[in-house]
Amino acid sequence: MAESLGLSPESSRRERYAELSSRWEALLGAEPNRVANLANIAAVLKEAFGWHWVGFYLVDFERDELVLGPFQGPLACTRLFHGKGVCAAAWDTKEVQLVPDVHAFEGHVACSSLTASELVLPVVVNGQVVAVLDIDSVTPGDFISADVEGMNALMDLLSNQWLVWE
Ligand code: SME
Repeated sequence: MAESLGLSPESSRRERYAELSSRWEALLGAEPNRVANLANIAAVLKEAFGWHWVGFYLVDFERDELVLGPFQGPLACTRLFHGKGVCAAAWDTKEVQLVPDVHAFEGHVACSSLTASELVLPVVVNGQVVAVLDIDSVTPGDFISADVEGMNALMDLLSNQWLVWE
């Protein structure tokens, strides 16, 4: 997939985000189904960066919980709850959570014992969190500011498209 995306192995992470950003529109513009688009986003990110787990948790407004959405990687927890874990922290605070060492994060929910570092970004629509994008790496301290910047651009796109999609 990296090859088909035109990504050379030596590309820096920042360059990869620049390459990806020009492809999101073509990838997401033609398909109106939200789940289909979230599934492809997870697949593209997983293949482009080789992370352990990439996926979405969607806000279940009826139950006031996070429920597992489209993802790539090993089996994951299906439900997450307010006040517990990195995803819930992004949901509760509406802030990006960059966790260099998951073992140092109190309440971290270990869906996979291999995860060492984690990045979670909220998808905010009309001031309300509707989902979070969760990215797990087996490498401690793997996430850098380039990831936050690159993913924030994707979050803006998601926020704008969320209600347009079915
Ligand atoms: N570690 C997350 C749970 C989700 S899994 O990593 C896929 C958390 O603490 O919320």
